[in-house]
Amino acid sequence: MYTAIKHLHSGFRYFVLVLLFTAISAAFIGWLGNKKYFEGNRRVNLFAMVFVHIQILLGLILYFLSNITQVAMNNWGEAMKNQTLRYWALEHVVMMLLAMVLITIGHSKSKKAVTDVLKHRTIAIYYTLSLIVIVVAILQSGRPLLGSQ
Ligand code: HEM
Ligand code: HEM
Repeated sequence: MYTAIKHLHSGFRYFVLVLLFTAISAAFIGWLGNKKYFEGNRRVNLFAMVFVHIQILLGLILYFLSNITQVAMNNWGEAMKNQTLRYWALEHVVMMLLAMVLITIGHSKSKKAVTDVLKHRTIAIYYTLSLIVIVVAILQSGRPLLGSQ
């Protein structure tokens, strides 16, 4: 079970990264080019957010299965002194939850925005911030951004 969810969570990152990249590129094109907010934009923005949500759910499940977080949960005091344990038990979760909050706020604000350019701009800003947090979090893990250990 641990291995299966770990692979799923690990592989799912590519959907998240590709969708975020696509949504952000389209948003900048729409914002800076003063374009209409198309149905295709709405869809890709929604999918990017939903895939982040699914990834978070997988992460939460993994948290209770992972050998690394089990060790940390058995001795929090010691785990906080160990860089790897602290990263997986605390930092990874906090950073990814922040990324989720950013993308969810961005999506919600964009839906409420009154003009098409404002919709694009909101997505461009919030989704870019979210992607930066995700990329920094993965890079900090010491594992490769693309690929697994
Ligand atoms: C840890 C689990 C999850 C949490 C905490 C969470 C949280 C949220 C929040 C706060 C919103 C509100 C966004 C808004 O007001 O616009 C939302 C919307 C949504 N979430 Fe999640 N979610 C989770 C998992 C999932 C999963 C697993 C899926 C899909 C399989 C999903 C799909 C959606 C969809 C479709 C929306 C509505 C988007 C819209 O049309 O506005 N979420 N979620
Ligand atoms: C956008 C959100 C997230 C992304 C992109 C993400 C990405 C990743 C990546 C790339 C790995 C390394 C996998 C490997 O080495 O093959 C990983 C591992 C892990 N993630 Fe996440 N993650 C996210 C959210 C979360 C959340 C919210 C939690 C917990 C609540 C979580 C828990 C874990 C755990 C426990 C591991 C380590 C598993 C192990 O090696 O035992 N992740 N994640």
